[in-house]
Amino acid sequence: MRLNVAIDGPVGAGKSSVSDAAAKRLGILHLDTGAMYRALGLAAVRRGIDTGNEEQVVALCREMKISVSHGEDGQHTFLDGEDVSGLIRTPEVSMAASTVSRYAEVRKEMVRVQQRLAAETDMLVDGRDICTTVLPNATAKIFLTAAPEERARRRYLEMKEKGQEEPYEKVLEELKQRDWQDMNRPVEPLRQAPDAELVDSTHLSFEETVDAIVRIVEAKRNG
Ligand code: DC
Repeated sequence: MRLNVAIDGPVGAGKSSVSDAAAKRLGILHLDTGAMYRALGLAAVRRGIDTGNEEQVVALCREMKISVSHGEDGQHTFLDGEDVSGLIRTPEVSMAASTVSRYAEVRKEMVRVQQRLAAETDMLVDGRDICTTVLPNATAKIFLTAAPEERARRRYLEMKEKGQEEPYEKVLEELKQRDWQDMNRPVEPLRQAPDAELVDSTHLSFEETVDAIVRIVEAKRNG
């Protein structure tokens, strides 16, 4: 049977890195769906399109081809064939991604691609609407979160390491703003699915968080 693991959660819960490690331990691929919304956000920023203009963003989404591939070093994300994996990790693109992800037509297109990929191979998929919409029949469903201050602290350290240092207060403010936007959009807002298991990583180390996820998946797989 196809093994599909669905992980949702807010920004900075460590979803990407934890999902990567958990997928490796489980011997399956990891699809980072946020990267696809980010690629569209980047396209909008580059074209100077106002992300608040739904019509233009939807037209852009139809025009651009967003795809992913998986190699030894994890996922690569492509915009019309260009590898944009590194370019989509800036604060500007983060905010643009959050805005373009509000639109129903954009989501429909992204969900369609994600469902096709997950049907093809065993996969751990992380995002905001995976348990609820993309993979409602996933083998295991997890909602991964942590307190906002802890998520901001991790984000701050991560950015500092990359040489993109910003004041902690600003990181916390942006994170709260994105949380609000992701949880209050009219289409498929971020929420814990009733049948998803909660993993709160506020007081867990990275390894403990990965362990918790692998345990949940193994229990479902064997149960
Ligand atoms: O996980 P991330 O920070 O890379 O995601 C970027 C934005 O994309 C996030 O603000 C919300 C949106 N997103 C979404 O709406 N649905 C998903 N499945 C993944 C991301």
